[in-house]
Amino acid sequence: METITLEIDGKKVETAKGTTLLQAARKAGIDIPTLCHDDRLAPYGACRLCLVEISRNGRKRLVASCAYQAEEGLVVRTETEKIVRIRRMIVELLLAVSATGPLQALGQKYGLKESRFKGGQPKCLLCGLCVRYCAEVKKNNVTCFVGRGIERDVVFLSDLSHTLCPVCRECLPLCPSGTLYSLYLKGYNGAPEPGSNKGV
Ligand code: FES
Repeated sequence: METITLEIDGKKVETAKGTTLLQAARKAGIDIPTLCHDDRLAPYGACRLCLVEISRNGRKRLVASCAYQAEEGLVVRTETEKIVRIRRMIVELLLAVSATGPLQALGQKYGLKESRFKGGQPKCLLCGLCVRYCAEVKKNNVTCFVGRGIERDVVFLSDLSHTLCPVCRECLPLCPSGTLYSLYLKGYNGAPEPGSNKGV
């Protein structure tokens, strides 16, 4: 196995070639917050909570650590003032959309009791965990994205979901906003309740 050495928060870290900065940092005991990441899934890079600063030859930039591969000699900083400020803003925006378990914990981490931004009913955060889990791990493709821009949403494909979801439901606990379970209970976006055998 080919290994590379890089520096993360002042620590020399040796890791296998091909690992991401997030994996290398975690291996070194350095915590980086994530929301759309799951070790079982391909990198997605949607939430940007895992931003870190990389520098090489004096040039610095921010990258999503869950999607950026570790490189030989790279210098990485995971918690600069700028990064904390950006993460705090991301968490505050997310809290306006939903304030459930993982987001509450992130709010506490960044000293946020509530969001300055206007909220409403909890909404899907479009992290894609359910969609990707269903496609990549279960190979079922029952949950999927529909729409574009602010109309983008997640749905259960009703013809498949009536047979596959009642015996699986593994995507439900992955949802950080808690909205997937409501969608499931609603009967897959307006379709009959799970187990009703009415078909669509
Ligand atoms: S965890 Fe890296 S972008 Fe979401």
